[in-house]
Amino acid sequence: MTKMLTQQKIVIKKDEIPPMSMVEYYFPAQKPWERKPVLVINYKGSFFAIEAFCSHAGLSLEDGFLTDDGKVVCPWHGSVFDIKTGKVVDGPAKRDLKTYHVEVKGDEVIIYE
Ligand code: FES
Repeated sequence: MTKMLTQQKIVIKKDEIPPMSMVEYYFPAQKPWERKPVLVINYKGSFFAIEAFCSHAGLSLEDGFLTDDGKVVCPWHGSVFDIKTGKVVDGPAKRDLKTYHVEVKGDEVIIYE
């Protein structure tokens, strides 16, 4: 039997995320523990999506800081990530974060897994 791979997506309203803020969402999955968390960021009116948990100790980035030059600072131990590329800018994290494709259509933001 061939298993069909379907692309999951999240559709949200633009105004759910005010400018210069970040909100954690989950891609839908069959089982709750299989849902992947994604951090959606409104950076000066443009939207970006990266893995929601820090690659250092796996803690949530949602309460971190969004810098004026487009970086997320982890609130736990201070790792810094580029929101456009997911790359580690400063440790202790060593692994880059996955980024997700984002599309804006009218007043909706669509994030693809
Ligand atoms: S959990 Fe993010 S720097 Fe440690």
